Amino acid sequence: MASVLSDDQIDRYRTDGFLVLPGFTGLDACAALQQRATEIVEAFQPSERRTVFTTNEQERFTDAEFLDSANGMWCFFEEEAFGPDGQLRQDKSLSINKIGHAMHDLDPVFERFSYTPELAAVATDIGLTDALALQSMYIFKQPHIGGEVGCHQDATFLYTDPITVTGFWFAIEDATLENGCLWAAPGGHRTNLRKAFKRAGATNNDDDDGTVFEELDPAPLPAPTDLVPLEVEAGTLVVLHGLLPHWSDINRSTKSRHAFSLHCISAAADYPSWNWLQRSPGLPLRRLDGSGRVAA
Ligand code: FE2
Repeated sequence: MASVLSDDQIDRYRTDGFLVLPGFTGLDACAALQQRATEIVEAFQPSERRTVFTTNEQERFTDAEFLDSANGMWCFFEEEAFGPDGQLRQDKSLSINKIGHAMHDLDPVFERFSYTPELAAVATDIGLTDALALQSMYIFKQPHIGGEVGCHQDATFLYTDPITVTGFWFAIEDATLENGCLWAAPGGHRTNLRKAFKRAGATNNDDDDGTVFEELDPAPLPAPTDLVPLEVEAGTLVVLHGLLPHWSDINRSTKSRHAFSLHCISAAADYPSWNWLQRSPGLPLRRLDGSGRVAA
């Protein structure tokens, strides 16, 4: 497969643990994804139990619906979506934090956006061999109530041995300091994984469908002020190493900050059964280059 990254870009990724590629995706493709995400939210009927998403671990809400979203297209509410009366503060279309986590294999529009020769070539260029598309998220970062995503390493949530998870984060709208852009720690991927997020049942030998964090290295993640903001325009691809500390701030502005994130792993690495995300046999993972399905 032809290379799409220059040697300089590959070197920068190895040094920094992230790479910003402006104009990687056409604005028409961004608009198509945004339109499809809007339609999915319109069709979404919230259940009695409302799943809220946060990576701030003290508050992380995990339940069966979260775990089931590995094989579906679930809408998660923003933490601040509901008022004291339990009613939505703003319209449903402005209350969803994200859709996750299998749109890339369940929805034709997301599938077309995800499985492209260009993205597969980026994965190959940075050394991610036999890339499998594991998880997709459409992130809204809504106006006024868009939630913070606390500093974390993606390998905490999607672990392989050796660590291979790589995030491909597409700006669907402009991301700025004002509406909660990404922040990253240059070189921070050359440190240990601090925590692993595990299915409680896998560690306790019981039927608990919750999740737990297991500490692997007590070294703290860098303070937010040690990270650099990645203000990018719509159409930009940001590639994130699985060990890179990164976060994004709350959005109190009037503008949303839509992004699509696809996380890939190498088929050559071991994917433990204690990972929260477990695909059902009927929905096996697919290679990013579209060359076929493999067992999860
Ligand atoms: Fe992340």
